[in-house]
Amino acid sequence: MEKLSYILDRRSIRIFKDQKIDSETIKKLLTAAMYAPSAVDRQPWHFVVIDQPQLMEKIMKIHPHARMLQTASHAIVVCGDEQLQHDDGYWVVDCGAATQNLLLATHTLGLGACWVGLHPREERKSSFSRLLVLPSHVKPFALVALGYPDESKSRPERFHAEKVRYNGWESPFFST
Ligand SMILES: Cc1cc2nc3c(=O)[nH]c(=O)nc-3n(C[C@H](O)[C@H](O)[C@H](O)COP(=O)(O)O)c2cc1C
Repeated sequence: MEKLSYILDRRSIRIFKDQKIDSETIKKLLTAAMYAPSAVDRQPWHFVVIDQPQLMEKIMKIHPHARMLQTASHAIVVCGDEQLQHDDGYWVVDCGAATQNLLLATHTLGLGACWVGLHPREERKSSFSRLLVLPSHVKPFALVALGYPDESKSRPERFHAEKVRYNGWESPFFST
């Protein structure tokens, strides 16, 4: 199980130290994001890296659950490209995989991160599209707040045997 600790011990971090992440590290995180699986390997994503305090302030005004940007070093907005996606709607799934890779890479490198949802809330997506001047075929999917963690969280219990079925819905996979 310990080899899985980078997955099991990842938690949403919302309080960060007053320390900037360097560009080389940002590149490593984005590399991990871009190695995510995507339908027909279309890689229909773009990333907007943000560290300008005025922009962070504006984001906190338009998103009600992004207060962690107050202390974050950077934010990365994961965007999906409707022109690059395999078929209608696939960009959402592909961006989900890229966002999770970004979160796991952040934790693996000793940093902290929090996924801040944009998709599927249309009003949030439109506000971000305007703020970041995105072309119309590029859709904001999620914002990831990043920094050096200034809080620690323990691993909750999330394995639930009853959620697993065997060869169809009728039988449980794990007998209790
Ligand atoms: C689609 C999605 C949207 C989320 N939006 C927010 C958000 O707007 N603000 C926030 O603080 N956390 C947000 N989170 C983080 C969740 O609250 C967090 O993942 C969940 O409580 C489980 O905690 P953990 O990440 O520490 O395991 C979001 C997570 C997902 C997957």
